[in-house]
Amino acid sequence: MRIGVLTGGGDCPGLNAVIRAIVRKGVAEYQHEFVGYRDGWRGPLERESRALGIPEVRGILPRGGTILGSSRTNPFKEEGGPDRVAENLEADGVDGLIAIGGEDTLGAAAQLFDEGIRVVGVPKTIDNDLSATDYTFGFDTAVNIAMSAIDRLHTTAESHKRTLICEVMGRHAGWIAFHAGIAGGANVILIPEVVFDLDRVCEYIVRRFESQYSPIVVVAEGATPKGGIPSAEGAPTDAFGHVRLGGIANWLEGEIEQRTGHEARATVLGHIQRGGTPSAFDRVLATRFGLHAIDAVHEAQWGKMAALRGTDIQLVDLSEATAELKTVPDSLYREAEVFFG
Ligand code: F6P
Repeated sequence: MRIGVLTGGGDCPGLNAVIRAIVRKGVAEYQHEFVGYRDGWRGPLERESRALGIPEVRGILPRGGTILGSSRTNPFKEEGGPDRVAENLEADGVDGLIAIGGEDTLGAAAQLFDEGIRVVGVPKTIDNDLSATDYTFGFDTAVNIAMSAIDRLHTTAESHKRTLICEVMGRHAGWIAFHAGIAGGANVILIPEVVFDLDRVCEYIVRRFESQYSPIVVVAEGATPKGGIPSAEGAPTDAFGHVRLGGIANWLEGEIEQRTGHEARATVLGHIQRGGTPSAFDRVLATRFGLHAIDAVHEAQWGKMAALRGTDIQLVDLSEATAELKTVPDSLYREAEVFFG
């Protein structure tokens, strides 16, 4: 068989490990050939690809990013998009596609499958917000990066007796903030799932200073205070309609400083969380996803996605995988409250 592979959406550590596993097993066990489509759905839409064989995947296991490139191109927002994808796959002699992506890339894959395109999905995102899988790869690395940053913020916060606010990614899910906040010993964790009360946050901060420690606030980029923030309106959106988030820490900096009388400073981690080498957990998970994805292709299990359930990798319907967002349950968030303040 000739298999197309693409990586779409925001990149994350572990994408190259998936690509390597797919190609290594695909060539060694099944004698398949591969076409590497460039920049997510843009590749099959515009028929842009690159060679993808054993030589191309050598040495890429520990490398961050994706050797195939990525984009947030939505084939359903392009003129004749689904038909162009089908025509180009046929022109390239591609029998089936492996789409590695998050909610958007896999959502498009599910729709294309409904239109007759043979596709298997692999879940990735640092946000860990796909409901069908216990974990996505990229998440563990992002959490570790954020945790290390919080560790560092503690020592400098103590020296200057400041409140330091650390903004992390995660879009509409608070997984990164929750995990990094607990692992890093944050004094307040703010997540999108729970609208926060700024007066309460300031009470925690004051209490922390009273006990002779300097507070660390971990805030998810999608967290919102009661009443919202005026500056969030009018932010740009991508081809999937997602608003560009970021900036809540800078807003909090001014509010907290003014309300508590203690200096407050913001650190926005941003894309640092998505860059660089994957953790061991992510390398293993990504590799296992890749191995199961190529098995699924070989068995013609089209319309499926590899998912982690407990310690097993299982195949689930792509439509199920993208049906709803996995967010932090309220009961889990409440477990961390004992550390607040
Ligand atoms: O979905 C991954 C993610 O990093 C989100 O956490 C974040 O909101 C978004 O992508 C940022 O996207 P971009 O890199 O396109 O600005």
